[in-house]
Amino acid sequence: MNILILGSGGREHAFAWKISQSPLCDALFVAPGNAGTAELATNLPIAFTDFEAVAEAIREHKIDLLLVGPEEPLVKGIVDYLRQQPGMADLRIVGPDAQGAQLEGSKDFSKSFMQRHGIPTAASQTFTADTLNEGLAYLESHTLPIVLKADGLAAGKGVIIAETLAEAQNALRDMLSEGRFGEAGNKVVVEQFLKGIELSVFVLTDGVNYKILPEAKDYKRIGEGDTGPNTGGMGAVSPVVFATEAFMRKVEDKVVKPTLAGLQQEGIRYVGFIFVGLMNTKSEPVVIEYNARMGDPETEVVLPRIQTDFVELLVAAADGELDKVNLQVLPQTAVTTVLVSGGYPDAYEKGKVISALDLVIEVTPFHAGTAAPNGQVVTNGGRVLAMTAIANSLENAVRRSQEAARTVQFEGKQYRKDIGLDLIRYSD
Ligand code: AMP
Ligand code: GLY
Repeated sequence: MNILILGSGGREHAFAWKISQSPLCDALFVAPGNAGTAELATNLPIAFTDFEAVAEAIREHKIDLLLVGPEEPLVKGIVDYLRQQPGMADLRIVGPDAQGAQLEGSKDFSKSFMQRHGIPTAASQTFTADTLNEGLAYLESHTLPIVLKADGLAAGKGVIIAETLAEAQNALRDMLSEGRFGEAGNKVVVEQFLKGIELSVFVLTDGVNYKILPEAKDYKRIGEGDTGPNTGGMGAVSPVVFATEAFMRKVEDKVVKPTLAGLQQEGIRYVGFIFVGLMNTKSEPVVIEYNARMGDPETEVVLPRIQTDFVELLVAAADGELDKVNLQVLPQTAVTTVLVSGGYPDAYEKGKVISALDLVIEVTPFHAGTAAPNGQVVTNGGRVLAMTAIANSLENAVRRSQEAARTVQFEGKQYRKDIGLDLIRYSD
C-alpha cells in the first residue's frame, strides 16, 4: 500500500523508519520531510497546512493510508477537509478530526472534558478578557506556585508556572489584555500546580478499541537537572521505571477508559493517537494535558520498542479493527538524546554542516531539523537530531546514546548529558 506521512520532525523520521520496515508498505511519501526521511521515502515539497496540496498528493500518488504527525493540521481540520474531497470519504487516515483534536487544541475544552467525565486533573478555572478582574482576585486567593495556560496552540510556550502572585497577575494581564500568545491566549486556564514526576502515555485508538503503547519520559527543559526554559524535548526514555504494572493499570482504568468512553458519549469518533501527559502524584495519575498526536522525541523511543508490524497497527486503527491485532513490545530500554542548535530554544542559526554521522554505530540517528540542499546534510531547525540507542539495560542505552551525541559534529551543537540519569538513580 502507498503511505503518506505529514510532518518534518524526528517523530516523522521515526514513523518513516518503522513503516519502511513493513512488508505492507509499497511506496512511502513524507510531506515535507527532512534529510533523514529522504533516505527512506520520497519527500514531497508540500507544507502540511496546505490542505489542497495534500489532497492533490493523495490523488497523484494513490495514497491508501495517511498518517498525520503534528497537531497543527489536525486542529485546523485536515481530516474534515479531506473527508469532503471526492473519493476520499473512505481514505484510511490516522489522526482525529477537528472536534477530536480539540483535546489538544483547546485547554479549556480538554479541562471541561476531563471534569465532565471524572478524569483526574488539576483543579482549574478559565478566564477571558471580560473576567480579568475575577481572574486577578482568584489568583490572590490561590496557593503558589500556580499554573497559567493559554487556551490554544502555542507551540509548547503557552504555559507559565508563576512562583509569586505578582508574576501570576502580570502573566494573566499580559495574556488577556496585552494579547501575548495572540488568539491562543484569548482564554486562560488557571490551574493548581501538581507535584510529582511526569510521564507520557500513548494510546492508539480506532474510536472503540485501543492499544496502550510503551510509555516514555520526556526531558523538556534545555538545561541539565531540568533547568532553564522549556523546549520541544531534549531527550526521552522508554520504559519508565516508576510506570509499574499497578500504576499503568490505574492509568488505564482512571484515564484511558473514561477518556475513550467520554469521546464516544460526546459523539466524537476519534481515530489516532492520544498522548496523555500526566503527573505521578503520590502513585496516582493526574492528567496535565492531552495531545492529539504522538510526542516528539518520545516517538523516537516508543517505536523502536514496538515489535508488531506498525502498518498493521495503523491500518487496524483506521479500519476499526484494533481488537484483532496483538501489540508486542520489546522489553529493552530505548534512550534518545537530542542534539540542538546553539541558542535554541531562542534564536539560532541554520545551515551548519553536520559531520561524522557515518561514524555512529548501533545507534539510530533520527533527523529532526535537517536538510540536504546540495547532498550535504546541514542543520535546518532548533532540534537537529535524536540519537536513539536500544539496549538490555538503561545504563547501556544511556551510554550509547551519549556516545553517539558526542560523535556527531556541527557548529554550536548542544545536548543534555543527563538524559535518563534520574531514572538510573530512581531504580537504585
Ligand atoms: P503543557 O503544555 O500543558 O504540557 O505544559 C507544559 C509543561 O508545564 C508540562 O509538561 C509540565 O512540565 C508543566 N505543567 C503544566 N501544567 C502543570 C501543572 N498543573 N502542575 C505542574 N506542572 C505543570
Ligand atoms: N515532547 C513533548 C511533545 O511532543 O509535546
